[in-house]
Amino acid sequence: MKSKAVRKAVFPVAGLGTRFLPATKAVPKELLPVVDRPLIQYAVDEALEAGIETMIFITGRGKNAIEDHFDVAYELEATQKARGKDLSALEGTRLTPGNAIFIRQQEPLGLGHAIWCARDVIGDEPFAIILPDEFMHGSPGCMRQMVDAHEQIGGNLICALEVPMEQTSSYGVIDPGARNGALTEVKGLVEKPAPGTAPSNLILPGRYILRPEVMTILERQEKGAGGEIQLTDAMAAMIGQGAFHGLTFTGQRFDCGSKIGYVEANLALALERPDMAADMRKIAENLLAATPAA
Ligand code: G1P
Repeated sequence: MKSKAVRKAVFPVAGLGTRFLPATKAVPKELLPVVDRPLIQYAVDEALEAGIETMIFITGRGKNAIEDHFDVAYELEATQKARGKDLSALEGTRLTPGNAIFIRQQEPLGLGHAIWCARDVIGDEPFAIILPDEFMHGSPGCMRQMVDAHEQIGGNLICALEVPMEQTSSYGVIDPGARNGALTEVKGLVEKPAPGTAPSNLILPGRYILRPEVMTILERQEKGAGGEIQLTDAMAAMIGQGAFHGLTFTGQRFDCGSKIGYVEANLALALERPDMAADMRKIAENLLAATPAA
């Protein structure tokens, strides 16, 4: 059965970003840049590349700067134009009205609750979810790879990533069934399993294409790991009701929810940028030569 096209993506951006304090005291963590593009911009670029049209941001108090980022910056654009400067750096930042929707999650009740806040906008179509602090870097992008696979297999599709076993307790983890190339059948899902109990080392790195029925399950507001309404639990309740697969992404993943992953992403992207790579490589080599190993 051919599934409906994926036209909408949900970006949960209400989190406080406490791991990056004091940087995130007044600036939303999603606006922290990797080189010169904010994390949320990479996430939106990824969705646009996948053919997604409507971006739904689940925000909270103190996150207004995200809305400004995707608006028209009239004074900035007019000034740059008057100076004869090109505006290419702003590409992808102007989301047209109706294609950028901002919904408040009023209380921090969990990722599942954040997604449920988008229920009326999602309606009865399959939709994507992108967690912007998981930075997926590749060409084609992660969501493009997922949308392509979804067109073939339909159902629920989640990105799957192998990590060292000892890291599994920080993530949603897949209980895997049969593997077929990049696809793994999902037989079970568990959110943040206690150390030593994970069913595999295949975790969920924050990219999902889900059937709209997940909203009906989230409606129950059942609490899971950490006392929060968990998306993983709602997805687990859909296993056995049609196709459910994990897709291994071909590309690089940077965990920008952690400081190490964030710094790594900055270094990796600077080392790739044609306008910076040569200088950056020299700087990195010099720094390494001058800094004693810890
Ligand atoms: C969330 C999800 C988890 C997923 C992770 C990816 O957890 O609940 O299933 O593996 O994002 O980063 P959080 O990091 O918000 O605790």
